[in-house]
Amino acid sequence: MDRQSLYYTFGRCGDSAVFRPSTGSENGRKERLLPARASLKFSKNGLDGKAMSPPLEIRLLARTDLPFADSLRARAGWNQTPVDWERFLALAPEGCFLALWNGAPAGTATTMVYGPELAWIGMVLVHPDFRRRGIGGALLRRCIAHLQSRGVRCIKLDATPDGKPVYASLGFKAEWTLTRWERAAAPSKPAMRDPRVRTWQTSDAEAIEPFDAAAFGVSRRQLVETLAKQSRCGLVLETEPGRVAGYGLLRDGSRALYLGPIAAMASDVAAGLVEALLERGGEEKIFWDIPDQNAAAVAWAGQHGFTAQRSLTRMYLGENAAPGNSQKVFAIAAPEVG
Ligand SMILES: CC(C)(COP(=O)(O)OP(=O)(O)OC[C@H]1O[C@@H](n2cnc3c(N)ncnc32)[C@H](O)[C@@H]1OP(=O)(O)O)[C@@H](O)C(=O)NCCC(=O)NCCS
Repeated sequence: MDRQSLYYTFGRCGDSAVFRPSTGSENGRKERLLPARASLKFSKNGLDGKAMSPPLEIRLLARTDLPFADSLRARAGWNQTPVDWERFLALAPEGCFLALWNGAPAGTATTMVYGPELAWIGMVLVHPDFRRRGIGGALLRRCIAHLQSRGVRCIKLDATPDGKPVYASLGFKAEWTLTRWERAAAPSKPAMRDPRVRTWQTSDAEAIEPFDAAAFGVSRRQLVETLAKQSRCGLVLETEPGRVAGYGLLRDGSRALYLGPIAAMASDVAAGLVEALLERGGEEKIFWDIPDQNAAAVAWAGQHGFTAQRSLTRMYLGENAAPGNSQKVFAIAAPEVG
């Protein structure tokens, strides 16, 4: 299948962009897209038929784009850090995109492939000055084309209220909702340390894989290993010596510490990990994203002084053959990776 027909495979999602072959020097990696809305604008100006460069270009995100990307992230008030952007590029160098409008950087999107059953889209951000021109939709279509060309059968994302209509118009369906819980910075309380909890070691990745995959839907070992290395604190709980029954991470964010992912074989194991991780968080502000269906984790959030900050919707496109079990997800890894 050539690039053009691949692109139009997604026309069923209401794609109205015009594909133009690459004119760039990146071995055909650049695409120029003229969204319907921009096309109308040119018609009004009576410029139809004249050879001119379309305003929207989507190309691969490069390291040199990260200061712009992170400035968009900061404008939106999101919690990721430059380390997160570096990780998106390191884990998916061919799957992170930058939108340019008349040559000016205007938007971003990232992807993460877990396997043929599942991939993720994240960091869909369009600069406020460039919104409602079809850029977000075009970035999405580029991500979808990239993931489907890799043979991925199901694509998921965690949608903000801003993003939901964009995704719905491309065929994404709601799966379940989750809530961002927040605990303000506060003096820490002394807590008993559970002797079954110990520091994460690289070798733990193998032991946690089965129950992490059962909760999330598919194995995401590479992501978990990388996140664990980049975390402020990674813990596991052993129900008996050598038997790891749960794990959890706490990592730095630009606005608050981030609690997650946490997966465990049983909820009492997860409760022990939450206690221990919150204790390690000391007096700092903490964010924690919990599936609303996980009633136990929602209750613990309230007991630990967290308040609900905002709601997100997990959405999917394609065959949701590996849905996982949201009642076993005690904290997601992050909205941009699942
Ligand atoms: C969400 C966001 C990326 C959309 O970008 P955008 O470039 O304005 O989106 P588009 O212009 O491509 O819009 C795509 C579709 O969604 C619709 N849409 C976009 N924003 C909308 C809004 N606020 N309310 C209702 N519909 C909206 C458009 O009408 C369009 O539908 P159409 O093709 O039928 O005309 C942008 O608003 C943004 O960066 N928001 C802040 C960050 C965020 O929440 N990102 C989403 C993370 S999940």
